[in-house]
Amino acid sequence: MSDRYAVFGNPIGHSKSPRIHALFAAQTGQDISYEAILAPREDFAGTVERFILRGGKGANVTVPFKEEAFKLATHLTARAQAAGAVNTLNFMDDGITGDNTDGAGLVRDLKANLGCDPVGRRILLLGAGGAARGAILPLLLEQPAELLIANRTEEKAARLAFEFARLPGCAVAVKPDSLAFGDLARRQFDLVINATSAGLDDAALPLPDSIFAPRCVAYEMLYGRETAFMRQAREAHARVADGLGMLVEQAAEAFFVWRGIRPHTAPVLLEMRPPQA
Ligand code: ATR
Repeated sequence: MSDRYAVFGNPIGHSKSPRIHALFAAQTGQDISYEAILAPREDFAGTVERFILRGGKGANVTVPFKEEAFKLATHLTARAQAAGAVNTLNFMDDGITGDNTDGAGLVRDLKANLGCDPVGRRILLLGAGGAARGAILPLLLEQPAELLIANRTEEKAARLAFEFARLPGCAVAVKPDSLAFGDLARRQFDLVINATSAGLDDAALPLPDSIFAPRCVAYEMLYGRETAFMRQAREAHARVADGLGMLVEQAAEAFFVWRGIRPHTAPVLLEMRPPQA
């Protein structure tokens, strides 16, 4: 019988993960099955436990369960600890390891698919929720010139910057800092990452066009359609990317965690991206 994996979320119907992992499995010759499981909001842990009893070997976790998965894990990787959230579970005889591959997926998409190495870049990270938090340590480890966090609720950005400037046992040269949206007018960045969920409501962010330095990469973590952020960045002549690459790369990292094999992502990304009109 194939080794069983799944993604848990609510809603989960439109998840692309089963397709991505099926492509990885076919490419690497790994005998796995991977399904999407709708977990009731009040019974995430029970749903995971039943999956383990049915032979589940590992799982991905998506909205809204990443913090609950963090609590469910009996061991946490350093990157899950820093992110405060878990998107990858590994079920073992002696417990459940919680990992977070989102930030690694972002960095890999930037470097491998977009040719945008964060080293030496001035980075602006928009947002201070779970998605932003997961990106901070992986970005800092790439040694950018600076990492500034801006958020609608300013205190949340300040708190995040404060926390990550003081990570114990973490030798990163750059300390993140925060600034208000209102202070962006005099600043320029080489990489602007939108980790807010504003695009879900097609809400625009109060960003001056001048933040996009020449040859700036504007990265939207959402995917599926052009958000107001992407539209503004495109019109300001930035290079625009959506989060589909991050989705595929975080999946590849999870596949590696479970199977010890790193699939090639380029053909999978090509397959997942609908042809441009
Ligand atoms: P996620 O897990 O996707 O990060 P989250 O933790 O709820 O979701 O965080 C959502 C982020 O998007 C927050 O930074 C939020 O800003 P606030 O902290 O001020 O709430 C940001 N956000 C959501 N809608 C926004 C909007 N219309 N304009 C600006 N920021 C928005």
